[in-house]
Amino acid sequence: MCGIVGYVGKRSASEVIIKGLHRLEYRGYDSAGIATLNDELNVVKVKGKVGVLGELVRKKKVKGNPGIGHTRWATHGEPNDINAHPHTGAFRRFALVHNGIIENYDVLRQDLEKKGHKFEGDTDTEVLAHLIEEIHELSDIDFFQAVQQALLQVEGTYGIAIIHKYHPDQIIAARKGAPLLIGIGDNEHFVASDASPIIEYTQKVVYLEDEEMAVITSSGYEVSTLKNVPLTKEVHELAMNLEQIEKGGFPHFMLKEISEQSDTIADCMRGRLIVGENRIQLGGLDGVLDRLINARRVIIAACGTSWHAGLVGEYLFEYLAHIPVEVEYASEFRYHEQLIDERDVLIVISQSGETADTLAALRKAKKRGAMVLGICNVVGSTIARETDAGVFTHAGPEIGVASTKAFTAQVTVLTMMALLMGRENGMISDDRMQELTRELNEIPKKVKDILKDTSHIQEIASLFTYAPNFLYLGRSYNFPVALEGALKLKEISYIHAEGYPAAEMKHGPIALIDEHMPVVVIAATDHTNDKMISNVEEVKARKGRIIAISSNGQSKVARLAEFNINIPEVHDCLTPLVAVIPLQLLSYFIAVNRKCNVDQPRNLAKSVTVE
Ligand code: AGP
Ligand code: GLU
Repeated sequence: MCGIVGYVGKRSASEVIIKGLHRLEYRGYDSAGIATLNDELNVVKVKGKVGVLGELVRKKKVKGNPGIGHTRWATHGEPNDINAHPHTGAFRRFALVHNGIIENYDVLRQDLEKKGHKFEGDTDTEVLAHLIEEIHELSDIDFFQAVQQALLQVEGTYGIAIIHKYHPDQIIAARKGAPLLIGIGDNEHFVASDASPIIEYTQKVVYLEDEEMAVITSSGYEVSTLKNVPLTKEVHELAMNLEQIEKGGFPHFMLKEISEQSDTIADCMRGRLIVGENRIQLGGLDGVLDRLINARRVIIAACGTSWHAGLVGEYLFEYLAHIPVEVEYASEFRYHEQLIDERDVLIVISQSGETADTLAALRKAKKRGAMVLGICNVVGSTIARETDAGVFTHAGPEIGVASTKAFTAQVTVLTMMALLMGRENGMISDDRMQELTRELNEIPKKVKDILKDTSHIQEIASLFTYAPNFLYLGRSYNFPVALEGALKLKEISYIHAEGYPAAEMKHGPIALIDEHMPVVVIAATDHTNDKMISNVEEVKARKGRIIAISSNGQSKVARLAEFNINIPEVHDCLTPLVAVIPLQLLSYFIAVNRKCNVDQPRNLAKSVTVE
């Protein structure tokens, strides 16, 4: 998610904050804002880049100390001036900035509206501001305790910073699930989402942990738990430079984003996978689910990696909800759109929400009267705004051109949609729903297990760094994963690679197999295991160099392969979420060995806005 900067001390708070927000822009931005105190509470916030905010702050000559600032990566409520942070309560006595997702914001909002609260915007964050105000106005507890009480009612994740008109020398901060640290200066203190806004002023930082709060003043800080237990925190010396901080200490954004996938898949399911009740809730599909389930045709259109996610979606929708799906390249959709009409539903998938081919497909389908649903990562993007409804992936900003965490987030959304539809149309029983929602809930942990030790994948990468070609083979759910693995390798290492349905190999590509051909075999599904064994034997018979991706259940494949990368065992329909991770890492390590520009590969753009 996005960035927070707070400052209290002798410098101009607005200067420190604007400069710090620029440092945080790599975390994604769609709007930004600042609040400072000089008797009055000054709040300036605007849609757009930090530069736009900076201009406004200079024009308005915003003064005052302390101050807090925010660059937003919207999750609830599209990017505009009203939804930008900071948010204040109705009485505008305090300003609050927030990173994260408040899952139970709608329940809290309904309750507050019944009590007479009026909301300006659509964000989950504004609800927290009103909740704090409601508690503080109604009780004689002090403001800090009102914040504590409010946070105890919040479900979800937050990193927050707050300044209050009647507490002119302090910033209140709190953290649960979204990073926050305190910078320790000489008669000045900072709070920020990471060290990039702080490092030029101090190397001394204190990291807040989940469910910890702090009161920060120019002369010091106090940390306590949400239950008011005072804490003594260790002071750390920053050992990273600015660029390392932006990449979270990783050498490339791509590796950072691969490594975030346990968290981003969890974020994508947050508030949507209700395990205790074995159910899925996708608010973005409220009111359109019936039309989707009863559509004459469901078509998925996308490009590149998003198209691969769509192919996984086809298997998921058909297997879990018995709903037939056609998957089209968005660029090719235009040649078939004459058959689409109001009885049909088009689902467009796009990380950026700006891909021209996908946008063109959306517009053509809408013109034909079809309902168009979106699966996007960027709230407020053109595609997100032009669809009739949809589900955001909540993967946070994806900086690396090669899409990784967006893919697994897209597949997670498609899995939840398939479960929801299968439940709705009676294709999934209670027991099966319980089994599948529990397994899906375990995926972030299983992804974390894969990411724990990547040394074996690095070794394999070093052996094949200069292979001129690769073949990737998969069946069923993992045929699209084979395509995705091949695309990852192609686009960042410039090695020619092809993905194929494993059985298809005998209809031509087997002619390519010899002792120089690395063949990645994704054998992670039980229901295709026997057939995969014969495919592996066909490759072995022709001396192909077999790299198997298998789980414990596929031990025969592992024994036949020259190299085996073991992944956790999961339900067949969930295998893409784990099988793709080693393929992302394999392509990353090979590209690094080849000294390629991993984050900005040649000839590529993060968002292809031309047709
Ligand atoms: C994937 O790694 C590539 N960056 C590219 O294929 C990408 O998936 C495609 O351009 C679609 O982008 P979108 O998801 O933003 O629409
Ligand atoms: N969920 C909040 C919003 O949509 C905060 C998003 C962020 O982390 O920037 O405004």
